Amino acid sequence: MKNVLLVGCGRIAGLNEDDLYRKKPCSHIGAYQAHPAYDVKGVFDINPKSCETFANKFGILGRFNNIEKALSEIKPELVSIAVPYDFNCEIVHLVAQHPNRPKMIFCEKPISNSLKNAENMVRVCEENKVLFYINNRRLTDIYNKLEEIYHRELDGEAITVNAWCSSGLHAIGIHMIDLLRKIFGDIEWVRAKIEKEKVNTLPYSTNFKVDDPRVNAHIAFKNGIIGNFFNTALTTFTYFELEVLCRKGKIRVSDNGNILELYKTRTPSRSTLSYSLVRKKVFKTQNAETLFAKIAKELVHSNYDDCDHPLSAKHGLESYRVLDALIRSSESEKTVWING
Ligand SMILES: NC(=O)c1ccc[n+]([C@@H]2O[C@H](COP(=O)([O-])OP(=O)(O)OC[C@H]3O[C@@H](n4cnc5c(N)ncnc54)[C@H](O)[C@@H]3O)[C@@H](O)[C@H]2O)c1
Repeated sequence: MKNVLLVGCGRIAGLNEDDLYRKKPCSHIGAYQAHPAYDVKGVFDINPKSCETFANKFGILGRFNNIEKALSEIKPELVSIAVPYDFNCEIVHLVAQHPNRPKMIFCEKPISNSLKNAENMVRVCEENKVLFYINNRRLTDIYNKLEEIYHRELDGEAITVNAWCSSGLHAIGIHMIDLLRKIFGDIEWVRAKIEKEKVNTLPYSTNFKVDDPRVNAHIAFKNGIIGNFFNTALTTFTYFELEVLCRKGKIRVSDNGNILELYKTRTPSRSTLSYSLVRKKVFKTQNAETLFAKIAKELVHSNYDDCDHPLSAKHGLESYRVLDALIRSSESEKTVWING
């Protein structure tokens, strides 16, 4: 049984379980309580009232207003962090350096609010031999299917990729950056333009901040593919979509990441117009396990955190490096090269 300490008592920590639109489990505590290998022994929140309400709601005995006391009393094997990302760095440092530090930390995305902090977080966990994981979308069925059919059906021969998502770079953009890195590998350079229109709030995102940048960018992968990444807060709806154009077809992910379509060249006839595409397969997320259920399964036996691990904080860091480069490029209006 893994003793868990949950840091943060908000929506992604657990309150999202009340959202009827979400398939369950859809939160940290939902995932741990649905899996027999975990025992959430305590919760900590900077807001004592939130902590108390959350602990009562999920039947957790340990409720703390001091994280060090929580670590000393619970001696957790896993600390799960779900607070606004500005605080991730400070909390990871405190947890990783504590005498009762856990074997592993699982932390919400984005890894942090600056590249320097992100690098320091990975370093402090390495120095203290704490396995460090970041929540991302790499275990999502449809993206694994996308990767599989890209290689199997289209020979992994992309010409370009167009990726679009809503909200800001820290709120949603980081998911797309990480997903693009998963499919096409590391990114060499970016050239970005900032979205200038001020947006104060978004109807579909409580985590969006007015100063979270949005960009329209060219991104060049080390494998030679140059793609387009467009991240905007100007829509009134949430979306997360991409299209991979290949020599022998294309793959489209639409419906906010829920539908995947494969198009391949048809057998041509005499007509030149017959050199076109036909839709071959459609995949939908239907009865698939939720991402959080998969994450709980993945972390049970996990004992390494290098880049072969889908949740590795090293991916979180490398994806943040791209985010940072996008911001610097949009500020300087120059191409920014990324040195991993
Ligand atoms: N992986 C995903 O798909 C996904 C989805 C939503 C949110 N997130 C991330 O999760 C984080 C939290 O989002 P949320 O929607 O749950 O926010 P929230 O505002 O609902 O909850 C955050 C909680 O953290 C507490 N808190 C704030 N500062 C703290 C500190 N220093 N120490 C302890 N507790 C503190 C707050 O009191 C609050 O209860 C954000 O960084 C966001 O980017 C990730």
